[in-house]
Amino acid sequence: MTHHAEVRGTMRENSQDDESARSEKLKRRIADEIEASGGWINFARFMDLALYTPKLGYYFSDAEIFGESGDFVTAPELTPLFGRAIAGAARKIMALCAPRILEVGAGTGRLALDVLNELDASGDLPESYAILEHSETLRARQKKTLGKDSPRWFDRVKWIDETPERFDGLVFANEVLDAMPVHRLRLGGGTPPAVFECGVALERGDFEWSERLASGVPRERMEAAAVEYALPEGFVAEIGLAAEDWVRSWGGVLGKGVFLLVDYGTPRRERFHPRRGGGTLMCCRRHRVCDEPLSCVGLQDITAHIDFTAIADAASDGGLDILGYTTQAAFLLNCGIVDLIARLPPSRRVKETRAVQRLLAPEGMGELFKVIAIGKGGGEGDSALGIFSGYDRSAGL
Ligand SMILES: C[S@@+](CC[C@H](N)C(=O)[O-])C[C@H]1O[C@@H](n2cnc3c(N)ncnc32)[C@H](O)[C@@H]1O
Repeated sequence: MTHHAEVRGTMRENSQDDESARSEKLKRRIADEIEASGGWINFARFMDLALYTPKLGYYFSDAEIFGESGDFVTAPELTPLFGRAIAGAARKIMALCAPRILEVGAGTGRLALDVLNELDASGDLPESYAILEHSETLRARQKKTLGKDSPRWFDRVKWIDETPERFDGLVFANEVLDAMPVHRLRLGGGTPPAVFECGVALERGDFEWSERLASGVPRERMEAAAVEYALPEGFVAEIGLAAEDWVRSWGGVLGKGVFLLVDYGTPRRERFHPRRGGGTLMCCRRHRVCDEPLSCVGLQDITAHIDFTAIADAASDGGLDILGYTTQAAFLLNCGIVDLIARLPPSRRVKETRAVQRLLAPEGMGELFKVIAIGKGGGEGDSALGIFSGYDRSAGL
């Protein structure tokens, strides 16, 4: 082993020790809350604590999350052409609304970098690019990415802690909704069928799944779905109330503005298809997918697919219009992503074409990922934007 390899090996062991210590601390914190709550918390609370406990939770720790050396790769990390295509939509939205952009949950800052560089090149820079980011670690990461070459637009970027009271312009969020806590429900037997809320209890210091009779909105939702889709006993589904509340809250914030949300999921009728009776919870660590969210606490991402019908209903409840809904592939094609490949120097075309193929693939990200646009459309819908033309599927939500 060379000296360098030895040092690197030791560093990795140290960081693994740090990770285990952080995970143990987080486990103790969650166990304390379970005990204080009478021996049980629902899964939504568990997911919230595992991902967002200050300093210890997955997104609030200093874990390496994004990219090849992290746990998973998101679209902006895959190719700069994703951000450049979004810049095309941003140009249109800013011209119609206001020259401002707000990005929620900006990851490494890669998307912001690509969008701003593209808009700079065409002379369409926004007056401001705000990043709503709760994680201090990610903020630091974003500042590093964006400030690296001291770009002249850097002073237009600002970081905010809270949703502003009012916003005009483009709001953008890629893979943010899927990281919000979900309730997990299971349909029991009987007439009418019992509904159970899955939660977490302690068994000799370890977390284990444990069910209670569901109540309130989660129970009502599952009962309604059971009737509408004739669900069989044992059907498991996640209900993303946090994401719905959050989307609804933007009704009081967006003035002249459009919110583009990109995430994986389906309309509700597909979500409650008998084939999906096991639920859609998924964990990801070091590019390996598993379905055991109670293990590796704080060391893995936990997500669930989005019910886009519920998101559209929440937006309408908040007084927002659905301006368009389509697949990621259709959206990116309408944003001109193929033309962007042709603009690249020949030496980069093969690599970026492969990445774009991943973003567009019908059996992969192209169809599973959807884009929904909500805003105050004043009845115009997408006609003035043209970013959903020919492909709008909102009637199917
Ligand atoms: C899967 S990451 C996606 C990051 C980035 N958008 C990308 O595509 O690479 C999810 C991000 O959403 C953020 N997030 C989740 N809930 C949030 C909320 N209520 N407000 C702001 N950010 C949130 C998380 O902190 C995390 O940074």
